[in-house]
Amino acid sequence: MKLKNVVVAGGGVLGSQIAFQSAYCGADVTIWLRSKDSITRTQPKLDKLKESYIAAIEAMDKPEGKMPGTWCMGIADVDKFDKKECLAKVEKAYSSIKLELDMAKAVADADIVVESMAENVKDKVAFYKALAPLLPEKTILVTNSSTLLPSQFAKYTGRPDKYCSLHFANSIWKNNTAEVMSQKLTDPKVFDEVMNFASEIRMIGLPLHKEKNGYLLNSMLVPLLFSAMDLYVNGISDPKSIDTAWKRGTGAPNGPFEILDVVGITTAYNIVSMYLKVPSFLAPYNFKGQAKLLKEMIDAGKLGRATGEGFYKY
Ligand SMILES: NC(=O)c1ccc[n+]([C@@H]2O[C@H](COP(=O)([O-])OP(=O)(O)OC[C@H]3O[C@@H](n4cnc5c(N)ncnc54)[C@H](O)[C@@H]3O)[C@@H](O)[C@H]2O)c1
Repeated sequence: MKLKNVVVAGGGVLGSQIAFQSAYCGADVTIWLRSKDSITRTQPKLDKLKESYIAAIEAMDKPEGKMPGTWCMGIADVDKFDKKECLAKVEKAYSSIKLELDMAKAVADADIVVESMAENVKDKVAFYKALAPLLPEKTILVTNSSTLLPSQFAKYTGRPDKYCSLHFANSIWKNNTAEVMSQKLTDPKVFDEVMNFASEIRMIGLPLHKEKNGYLLNSMLVPLLFSAMDLYVNGISDPKSIDTAWKRGTGAPNGPFEILDVVGITTAYNIVSMYLKVPSFLAPYNFKGQAKLLKEMIDAGKLGRATGEGFYKY
């Protein structure tokens, strides 16, 4: 493992998962926490994660656990699954993760620091400012922020060339994607190292070469959810029919209203309210660029499945 000494700042929902997953994959992991109270909140999360990993491994050992929707790619490949080995890795991860309150001690030999603190700009800035003078030269620094862009923090890190986003999804042992987003000053070599780190901890690294609010997933998902809610609030149809149109029409397992129920209505409300305040958050679509790309594909005879090639080859 190239970036073996991993420090996770923040031991909340995602921080504890990133720490556990990294340790499961063989990294030496320290979680930096700001207070003794944080330790009493983080330790039970690690206890619960251990149970979740064991439950997932037990389920993966059963024939029905091998279904694509239930198999946990963060834990093992289907054809190389060895239950005993996976359980041993869980035990080792659980017993090896260190919790540290002293920031200087935590990061003294860090290869990578993953900032996964609450989504609060002031606190994140204060953290980066305190961290900057303590980091060894070699350390790469990434943020797991879902809604804030790395360029907003780069200048406080003392190493903008070694700083980018590494954005995980919740339940990372199952939903194993990690979106890697550079900001203007990120060194391309560092970007590659972060992509490599993602795959070493069994994530599928998804590259974003420019900054984008919403990253990949939410840039696509949010407009879908808005379109569905528009159909409903404008009295065009009802949630069940709209979901059926999407599911039967595309083969997707869940419809937009089913997704909204999983995301939670409060989060949906917060997102809609944000767009009410700043409508420009919704990407202005580059229709000119899209038309140019599609015309080039047509001219090259790449018409999709019908001609054996579109965006993919068939
Ligand atoms: N929850 C998700 O589904 C999810 C998914 C992807 C990314 N994220 C991102 O991950 C980050 C953390 O989210 P979370 O859901 O784990 O939050 P959380 O509230 O569960 O945990 C936040 C952690 O940050 C710590 N913290 C808060 N303020 C601090 C401070 N001033 N100094 C030091 N530590 C502080 C808390 O003690 C806690 O350990 C956020 O940036 C969020 O956008 C969350």
